[in-house]
Amino acid sequence: MAARIYSRLVGTGGYLPGAPVSNAAMVERLAGLGIESSDEWIRERTGIEQRHFAADQQSTSDLAFEASSSALASAGLAAKDVDLIIVATSTPDMIFPSTACRLQRKLGIHQCAAFDVQAVCSGFVYALATADLFIQTGQARTALVVGAETFSRILDYNDRGTCVLFGDGAGAVVLRAADTPGVLAHKLYARAEHEAILNTPGQLAHGKVCGSPFLTMDGQAVFRLAVEVLESSAREVAAMAGLDVKAIDWFIPHQANRRILVMVGKRLQIPESRLIATVAQHANTSAASVPLALDAARRDGRLQAGQTLMLQGVGGGFTWGALALRL
Ligand code: UT7
Repeated sequence: MAARIYSRLVGTGGYLPGAPVSNAAMVERLAGLGIESSDEWIRERTGIEQRHFAADQQSTSDLAFEASSSALASAGLAAKDVDLIIVATSTPDMIFPSTACRLQRKLGIHQCAAFDVQAVCSGFVYALATADLFIQTGQARTALVVGAETFSRILDYNDRGTCVLFGDGAGAVVLRAADTPGVLAHKLYARAEHEAILNTPGQLAHGKVCGSPFLTMDGQAVFRLAVEVLESSAREVAAMAGLDVKAIDWFIPHQANRRILVMVGKRLQIPESRLIATVAQHANTSAASVPLALDAARRDGRLQAGQTLMLQGVGGGFTWGALALRL
């Protein structure tokens, strides 16, 4: 019988464009539009202190390229070693080709499978689970999995309830075939009945944008659902992986709001010290938030070989997903 193939995380990278934009700078920008906000409100309600915005000429694939180059360098691999690229994004460079194909060209890879995954803030976990299955079935050996976003392009600066929450960035990981696991378990979920609480409904037709091209959100409804599904999916995927949820070394949930992270941590009875939180520095970077947080924790030395991780996404669709892995 052929030996089972597993996938292992062998490298991570992250990229945040430009200088950080403080809450004070956002408040000033809003004031210029006659809209009131404050640093105190943003900090207290979300934990966000700053975010990064891409320059006008920077596209999502540019951010993805920087994060991918850094992930490949950390893995000690060259772009030519990659035989699968999956990019999770809701802010692609263009309608087509995919951002993954544009990234392939920028990386100088001549040929490999490349496609985008659209699951909004759950996109990276969806993409990582997909890459794991490609590797397990022998379809790929070295996968570059990226979450990259330029959400600043779909923010309505007249809506103080959303424009202060998001930022741009990209995170990437390299997943490789191995004899030992690696990725232990994952599960992806969608409940489309909740489409209306988080969406960007605009579309292109006949040369025009039809409907609003801006992100809209019922923050409280998303908050409640996010807390519920982050708790339930962590428990379900920990059980699938044969792990005691309380014994998992690090939780890396989607970074939308510090209050959500703390509330989920309390429900799961895990101390805040085992929660990786980058929302203060990055704000919500949608599909990029989990790989950016993962990269930050690996680079500052918190993540060590042999430890167990729970990665979790939640967002528009309504989608969510969780993935447990051993480093
Ligand atoms: O990535 C996808 C996942 N997204 C999320 O998980 C986001 C989940 N939701 C949240 O994080 C929170 O619901 C928000 C941060 C979006 C909002 O926090 P909240 O505590 O639920 O506030 P709220 O929407 O109930 O608004 C409270 C008040 C309102 O004023 P009134 O109606 O009480 O007078 C808002 O208009 O806060 C006001 N407000 C603001 N005030 C100052 C909303 N945004 C701002 C702002 N500055 N930027």
